[in-house]
Amino acid sequence: MITKPKGTYDLLDIDARIYTYISNLAEEFMHNYNIDYIRTPIFEASELFHRGIGGTTDIVTKETYDFKDRGDRQITLRPEGTAGVVRSVIENKLYGNRNDVLKYYYMGTMYRYERPQKGRFRELTQIGVEAFNSNEPMIDAEIISLGYYFIKSLGIEDFTVQINTLGDETSRTDYTKALKDYLKPHLEGLCEDCKSRFQTNPLRILDCKVDKDNEILKKAPRISAFLTKDAKERFDKVKEYLNILDIDYSVNENIVRGLDYYDHNVWEYVTDTEKVAIGGGGRYNSLVENLGGPSLPAVGFGLGVDRLILEIKKILPEKALTKQIDAYVMCVNEEEKMHAVSLVQDLRLNNIQAEINSNNLSLKSQFKTADTLGAKYLIILNSDDLQKGIITVKENSTKEEFKLDESEVVDWLIGNL
Ligand code: HAM
Repeated sequence: MITKPKGTYDLLDIDARIYTYISNLAEEFMHNYNIDYIRTPIFEASELFHRGIGGTTDIVTKETYDFKDRGDRQITLRPEGTAGVVRSVIENKLYGNRNDVLKYYYMGTMYRYERPQKGRFRELTQIGVEAFNSNEPMIDAEIISLGYYFIKSLGIEDFTVQINTLGDETSRTDYTKALKDYLKPHLEGLCEDCKSRFQTNPLRILDCKVDKDNEILKKAPRISAFLTKDAKERFDKVKEYLNILDIDYSVNENIVRGLDYYDHNVWEYVTDTEKVAIGGGGRYNSLVENLGGPSLPAVGFGLGVDRLILEIKKILPEKALTKQIDAYVMCVNEEEKMHAVSLVQDLRLNNIQAEINSNNLSLKSQFKTADTLGAKYLIILNSDDLQKGIITVKENSTKEEFKLDESEVVDWLIGNL
């Protein structure tokens, strides 16, 4: 038997239904926030991610799926969505002559060669939002709030937003120096990865999962002490807006994010119980320019859809997850089938979710199937009744029966569902 690749899963049954629900809600939400849909390729030139995400990040050094295509081009399956959207904004000159904010959202699969475990996959799905052309703290708050209320609308309450600022370049240079000076005599006490991060990307040591309870890190200098006046004011302003927008947030100075393109405000949506990041984002004012575009400030986030599905499964009652259709149309002989196909089509074209016995099942099996599908109403066609133009509709939970005129069935269901 050929099995699925390690770290992937087939989206089935309940998970598939939750996925569709998330995707429909995302569409609605984005529409209300005036955000346009964008789709970029799942594979891109490897250089995009090297330059975009950062050549020394874990994602680029250890986790990308790289290959040469048949034309000898160096290709990478996208590990995240931001770099591709930025490439598209530049390539299609989407920023030309505009003074409004450009906002895009996407939903799609990303690929990271990570060690698979619960909630961590090699093929993952993200919903992402990217907003370009505004450097106002107001839009940072708007974008944080969009993610926050989207997660809440899914019914997930067990999370908070953890925010931090990485400051501007001056803040970061000063802080990185202070952090290195502090860590240098303590290097032996850190994990192997952190020892190499000390050379390549010292800030990443702060959110190391291995060293998270290490006393050395607990006593390390904090970025807040190194912020320039501008950077501090900006962060304070974002927090002020978050208060106005009623966002439950806390400042966590260990949030530095695993991608190199961020500056200023960064954040993660973290579950309170298991401390899982169900999403994360930040401002990235230099990325567009670094990838060859104009100077264009930007901010955005990505939500892990696979992780949202796991969270929703924890809170939804069993009943809400079971399949429930509106009506099941039952028929046995040829005459009944002729009426049934036309009736089921009418129901469906009138927004009633309906199924029909299209597998020549016995009456007994049809009752069973209707139960499996959670049919609210059984529509029972019977030759004798049909001759008189009558159809029986049975409410499956109460077993109450209604004899209706064939022409009334659709309207009756519309009124009773
Ligand atoms: P990220 O933090 O790398 O950010 O990923 C965003 C979210 O994707 C995570 O919080 C997590 O929920 C989910 N995720 C990441 N890796 C996996 C995995 N292996 N399995 C399951 N879920 C995963 C970004 O990707 C940025 N592009 C976000 C962004 C957009 N920043 C600015 N704009």
